[in-house]
Amino acid sequence: MKLNLKVWRQKDKNSAGAFENYEAKNVSPDMSFLEMLDEVNEDILKAGKDPIAFDHDCREGICGTCSMYINGRAHGPVKAVTTCQLHMRSFNDGDTIVIEPWRAAAFPVLKDLVVDRTAFERIQQAGGFVSVNTGSVQDANAIPVSKIDADEAFLSAACIGCGACVAACKNSSAMLFVSAKVSQYALLPQGQVERKERVLKMVEQMDKEGFGSCSNTEACEAECPKEIKISNISRLNREYIKAKWFS
Ligand code: SF4
Ligand code: FES
Repeated sequence: MKLNLKVWRQKDKNSAGAFENYEAKNVSPDMSFLEMLDEVNEDILKAGKDPIAFDHDCREGICGTCSMYINGRAHGPVKAVTTCQLHMRSFNDGDTIVIEPWRAAAFPVLKDLVVDRTAFERIQQAGGFVSVNTGSVQDANAIPVSKIDADEAFLSAACIGCGACVAACKNSSAMLFVSAKVSQYALLPQGQVERKERVLKMVEQMDKEGFGSCSNTEACEAECPKEIKISNISRLNREYIKAKWFS
């Protein structure tokens, strides 16, 4: 396959960016999207130019770093996959592919397709943890958890913090991310100690970082590669109201 790429190039945080055109030649349908970009970067390097900067780590859909907009969709056109798990068979020979970084004030562009997502780290540090007593390991059966709660908590914990929900939202809201992190602990006995404090602090940090409000368009759920449900946002709102006004 031969593809035309329009890629956002931006030298650094303070420079203006612009699209540049590249040709991706000899693309195998079995390549991942990131492997295709690796090949394009080889050609750019051979020409003595600066390769396209993009984030990646696990390349297995786990770490959430391979965040980019592909043809106007967060992580590209295939539902429930990250960019690293997107394969070139999802495109046709001769296609033009537009590749951009996440667009959100709270995620400033550092270079090309790389954005600064440390705002998510600060939200996590504000309350996304549980306190445990150190010592010998507790018997797993000593803390009974209902199957329904265990399954729900597991689904919430699937969030990889990629930021696609923010990028897809017209208000750049981080509610889906925060609600997943709050839910995964609120549903489990281990999360009860900091339950109220957690939700208040994480929402406070989310607001400080400049993320917008949720307006229930559900764009976040549609683009989330881990299929996090917006029912988590309802839980977040309930948790917040209970912690703020009924405790
Ligand atoms: S909720 Fe989904 S889209 Fe948002 S950060 Fe988590 S995995 Fe990414
Ligand atoms: S590189 Fe880790 S999720 Fe894509």
